[in-house]
Amino acid sequence: MDRIGPNFIDIWRWSLDPAPCEIDRLFPMLSGEEKARASRFVYPEHRQHFIAGRAGLRLVLGHYLHLPPHRIGLTYNVFGKPRIAGASELLHFNLSHSADVAMLAVSDHYPVGIDVEAIKPLKEDIAGHFFSKRECAALAAFAGDDYLNAFYRCWTRKEAFVKAHGAGLSLPLDSFDVTVDAASRPRLESLDGDRDAPLNWSLFDLASPPGFAGTLAALTLGNAVHLRYSDHNVLALKASVAHPAHTDPRQRQNGGSRAIPV
Ligand SMILES: CC(C)(COP(=O)(O)OP(=O)(O)OC[C@H]1O[C@@H](n2cnc3c(N)ncnc32)[C@H](O)[C@@H]1OP(=O)(O)O)[C@@H](O)C(=O)NCCC(=O)NCCS
Repeated sequence: MDRIGPNFIDIWRWSLDPAPCEIDRLFPMLSGEEKARASRFVYPEHRQHFIAGRAGLRLVLGHYLHLPPHRIGLTYNVFGKPRIAGASELLHFNLSHSADVAMLAVSDHYPVGIDVEAIKPLKEDIAGHFFSKRECAALAAFAGDDYLNAFYRCWTRKEAFVKAHGAGLSLPLDSFDVTVDAASRPRLESLDGDRDAPLNWSLFDLASPPGFAGTLAALTLGNAVHLRYSDHNVLALKASVAHPAHTDPRQRQNGGSRAIPV
């Protein structure tokens, strides 16, 4: 496996709107379960985004693990967070997509969560419903476009933390506070029942495309970590070919949804 090391977390970004012929090339990279999920989307655009998202995820993971995309086995925790079957501690990853943008974080040291959101005008007081009292008070200092940007900083910081934590939305959104300003480094300020959480978790503002906000959260345990952006064209990555020693006949039978020996 290609190592990333404790000082970096890799960030990958790609478009979910490749040419239609590309979708035909990407579709076979999915597992049987994903192909079935793709077929259940009502709108072709959503189907296409899902295929381009999962194929990109598989191409990148295959790049680290030296495995063909369809051979990456994924399993899910009870809250739906995907991980690599049989190798979840070796390579942590998390995917986020919004509109036609996908972003993926990969680390071989730290559990990660990533969130990217297209910035759209708000129709209701979402902060009042979802954010903590402290976050709402901090947001009250902003107005107009500054409020919108602060809102999305807060939203993606919370969502990335929830996704990294792994408990999904079973973690009450008012049980932790994040910073909302752009001036200082983003931080987790508190987590109910865990006094060490602000030291153990790191948040990073992502360099996301214009009109989008994005955050990465990682359980870095106080280590100094930097983001390393990949400039590869993800969907054009060469699919790895499995080393013969990694070819498990049982996996060929189940469309790659079983654990991968790495
Ligand atoms: C599913 C959820 C984890 C993220 O939803 P989202 O922001 O709509 O979607 P994203 O694009 O960021 O992430 C989706 C990806 O995260 C991964 N994922 C799914 N469940 C996950 C979980 N429990 N934890 C971490 N990652 C998860 C999957 O790879 C998924 O990709 P897929 O569509 O190919 O299956 C969940 O947090 C959710 O439903 N959020 C709703 C929004 C909300 O209320 N946010 C409040 C924030 S203040």
